[in-house]
Amino acid sequence: MLMEAAQFELLSALEEVAEEIRAEAAALRASDYVVWPDRAAYTGTWLTFPLALRTYPDSLVVDLAAHRALCPQTSRVLDCHPRIFAAGFSRMEPGCHILPHVDKKEPNVLRAHLALKTGQHSVMRVAESLHHWVDGQALIFDALIDHETINLGSEDRLVLMFDFEMTEDELAYAKRFNSTVDPRFFSPASVNIPFGEVFAQSDCEMSPMD
Ligand SMILES: [Fe+2]
Repeated sequence: MLMEAAQFELLSALEEVAEEIRAEAAALRASDYVVWPDRAAYTGTWLTFPLALRTYPDSLVVDLAAHRALCPQTSRVLDCHPRIFAAGFSRMEPGCHILPHVDKKEPNVLRAHLALKTGQHSVMRVAESLHHWVDGQALIFDALIDHETINLGSEDRLVLMFDFEMTEDELAYAKRFNSTVDPRFFSPASVNIPFGEVFAQSDCEMSPMD
C-alpha cells in the first residue's frame, strides 16, 4: 500500500545524497536525540532528532538550531527543498513498536522516509500490506491511511522522516491512488489490524527479536 516513489522527483533528489545524510546521522549519539513525547503512541524506545518543524506539541522540547548545527549537510539539503516543512531522523530501538494510527495532516501533504540504516527485521504495515525499507531508498505512503511500524531486529532502525507539500501533478496522482484504497483504512478505529494477523496472512518471513 505504498505509493510509487517514481511519481515524486523530490525523493530521487534525496536518494542521491543519502550517503551524506546517513553519515551525519550515524555520527550522532543516542543522547543527542529526543524521546518522542507521545508515549501512548508506541512501546519501547522511539528517539527523534528534528531538523525542521512547522508545528509541534508543547511537550516536545527541542533546539532546532543546535540540531542543524550538528547536521549541516542534511540541513542544507532540506533548505534546497522548501516544500519539505518537517523533517528529522527517526530512530527505533530494538523492540520499539509504533502502534496502529493515522496521522493528523493536511490532505495536500505526504510523508516519506529515506532509509539510512534499516534491516530485514524492521517492518511497516500500511493498510493490509507489509513493507521493508531499502537503505539509500525513499519509501512514501499516505499517513492518512492506517499504519504501524515495528523493529523486530537487534539493531536500531534509522530513517530520515519528512513531510512535504505536493505539487498539482503529485496531488492528482495521490487522489487517484487513494481512490483505490478501502475507505475503512482511513478510519483505523474500525479496522485496526494488528501485526500478528497480517503476518499470519502473508508470506513474510520474519523472526521475532533475532
Ligand atoms: Fe504515522
